Amino acid sequence: MQLEAIDIGFGYKKNSWIFRHVHMSVSRGEIVGLVGPSGAGKTTLGKILSGYEKPSEGLVRLNGSPLPSKGYHPVQLVFQHPEKAVNPKWRMKEILHEGWNPDDELLERLGIEKDWLRRWPNELSGGELQRFCVARALGPSTQFLIADEMTTMLDSITQAQIWQVVLDMAQKRNMGILVISHEAHLLNRICSRIIDISQV
Ligand SMILES: Nc1ncnc2c1ncn2[C@@H]1O[C@H](COP(=O)(O)OP(=O)(O)OP(=O)(O)O)[C@@H](O)[C@H]1O
Ligand SMILES: [Mg+2]
Repeated sequence: MQLEAIDIGFGYKKNSWIFRHVHMSVSRGEIVGLVGPSGAGKTTLGKILSGYEKPSEGLVRLNGSPLPSKGYHPVQLVFQHPEKAVNPKWRMKEILHEGWNPDDELLERLGIEKDWLRRWPNELSGGELQRFCVARALGPSTQFLIADEMTTMLDSITQAQIWQVVLDMAQKRNMGILVISHEAHLLNRICSRIIDISQV
């Protein structure tokens, strides 16, 4: 049971490659880090692995098959910039319930206040908004989570709190996680191995 990138190449423009010949995989239950310099293509690779972008060459395989194109996506991406990941015309309640209905216990553990559900996205701070994006991504059908600088905008106590919730859930559901981050201490603490995008 794994998420695989097989000889992936990607360019936003023709003949201008961001990366080529990327081979990597994450297994269910595994927590893997992805590092590399700014602009190297980590976010782009995260989008490809979760089906938001099509690779220019190569294949993504989930348990040996192509990514599904319909329904709740088994590979969930939590974006680096939460404000780009939500519909600004929806209230937080609608955004949260788009894919599944997280229970009150999960919301409480993520520090989401009931009152925030009635607000619009632009009425929350980046860190508050990101908690919703994390909750939204943890549906029962999530097999893999791509966490792209998921807690970078949070203070260290909240960061630890959110990761505790995500890691507990990952263990319970046997999820695999790809952690994209520049924070070495976070990666060293939670990942069993770390991939450098410039060496795959
Ligand atoms: N929509 C786009 N159109 C054109 N170029 C893009 C687009 N998005 C990203 N790029 C370019 O692709 C390259 C890789 O960007 P990406 O966001 O994947 O890098 P990253 O490794 O995640 O960087 P960071 O560590 O700063 O988040 C960069 O040079 C960026 O300028
Ligand atoms: Mg990025």
